[in-house]
Amino acid sequence: MEQYSSMITGTGSAVPEKVLTNDDLAKMVDTSDEWIRTRTGIRERHIAEDGIATSDLGARAAQEALAEANLAAEELDLIIFGTITPDMYFPSAACFVQNKIGANNAAAFDVSAACCGFLYGLDLADNLIATGKYHNILVLGGEILSRITDWNDRATCVLFGDGAGAAVVQPSDGKRGIVGNYIKSDGSLAHLLNMPGGGSLLPPSKAAEDPKSFYLQMEGREVFRYAVSCMGDAATTIMSQNGFTGDDLALFISHQANIRIIQAIAKRLNVPDEKVFINLDKYGNTSAASIPIALNEARKSGRIKSGDLVLMVAFGAGFTWASSLVRM
Ligand code: UT7
Repeated sequence: MEQYSSMITGTGSAVPEKVLTNDDLAKMVDTSDEWIRTRTGIRERHIAEDGIATSDLGARAAQEALAEANLAAEELDLIIFGTITPDMYFPSAACFVQNKIGANNAAAFDVSAACCGFLYGLDLADNLIATGKYHNILVLGGEILSRITDWNDRATCVLFGDGAGAAVVQPSDGKRGIVGNYIKSDGSLAHLLNMPGGGSLLPPSKAAEDPKSFYLQMEGREVFRYAVSCMGDAATTIMSQNGFTGDDLALFISHQANIRIIQAIAKRLNVPDEKVFINLDKYGNTSAASIPIALNEARKSGRIKSGDLVLMVAFGAGFTWASSLVRM
């Protein structure tokens, strides 16, 4: 018999209006729609207009999730925002969201786990609800990666997009909920995916010495290799820990970074194509926003029904990797 502490009672997502297609990118750098589609599966991505911050997208996603959960913002006791592109170094993007939605009774903080930010937040929320101290937690994942993208670097600028997703997490009704979570990190591989500038090691005052350090930098081929093995580990571990196989899954929601990575993990899990959720063609890799946007779209488009078992798996800078198994 499955035991649950918490359940997801509402989801929401938001992306900026402006769309940048592969053909648009081919006018900016030496690339092509054909290369981007066949190597990644991406066709277009959404890019935030100047003046829009990560918390603006987060607040929009939060409002949709709260409306579905039938919960007033004032009833939230905690806001956890997974992001590596907060509005400012400090305060947290979670605090800006708190103010924008009027969640006056909540504590708010950010989680820095790159593309795993949402699943790390979900694990935290699930465990905090299990203590009985928290009842209504808003978990967000959101990014404006376009602001840390080097638009002259074809190896990275074709990959990323902007957006946010949110979930309201509340005590389980006993019939559905979070079955299990799994989170891992390996800091020895930080050099393969990072943004070196802007922190205490290389502060903004030194920006002129190395302007490229303020852009996301990635060893794509190496990251690909680790993404397949670490997400494979996260997926198979959570499934076997809870006594499930691929046959039990109604839907597999992977971090949307590369279609080839997603297919490799689905194959390892023995999950057929029709049970694999894909939306990276529309959004590219939105880091921490990737999983909650996909979860919201899968639910709102009828791909997830009541009682379905859903597996979510992510991988990102750190490295971090994570999975969550949910009875919806
Ligand atoms: O969210 C965190 C996790 N991130 C990921 O999971 C990303 C993981 N990595 C990847 O998805 C893939 O490694 C990439 C999509 C980034 C790259 O695909 P790849 O098949 O590993 O290509 P590659 O880096 O090995 O490059 C192959 C060729 C190179 O040319 P040469 O050296 O073979 O002549 C690149 O210079 O493709 C070239 N290339 C491009 N060509 C056209 C790299 N980027 C582009 C581009 N357009 N945008």
